[in-house]
Amino acid sequence: TYVVTDACIRCKYMDCVEVCPVDCFYEGENMLVINPSECIDCGVCEPECPAEAILPDTENGLEQWLELNTTFSAQWPNVTRKLDQTPPDADEHKGEDGKYDKYFS
Ligand code: SF4
Ligand code: F3S
Repeated sequence: TYVVTDACIRCKYMDCVEVCPVDCFYEGENMLVINPSECIDCGVCEPECPAEAILPDTENGLEQWLELNTTFSAQWPNVTRKLDQTPPDADEHKGEDGKYDKYFS
């Protein structure tokens, strides 16, 4: 599966949802997550994210993100369209360190 990581927090560019063939993104206030049991591992969302927030869970050190994606995809609403969810200051938070501790809720 692929997972969304903290680089998405406060960026939420939403390009990922436009390309996912199985609509497996779920939307929280500050970030999106992928439902790992629905993701078909096609990989098309990874290069679409301007924040480079999406990674395959086969990369080292992503256990925490796999767990978070699993947990919150069961709680947050499904999202299939990019409307106006991207925050106006998204670019200011692109590449910022420590976003999980600062902003995740
Ligand atoms: Fe959707 Fe494919 Fe990305 Fe999985 S890898 S979330 S199926 S676009
Ligand atoms: Fe987040 Fe990137 Fe999608 S910033 S909303 S994972 S395009």
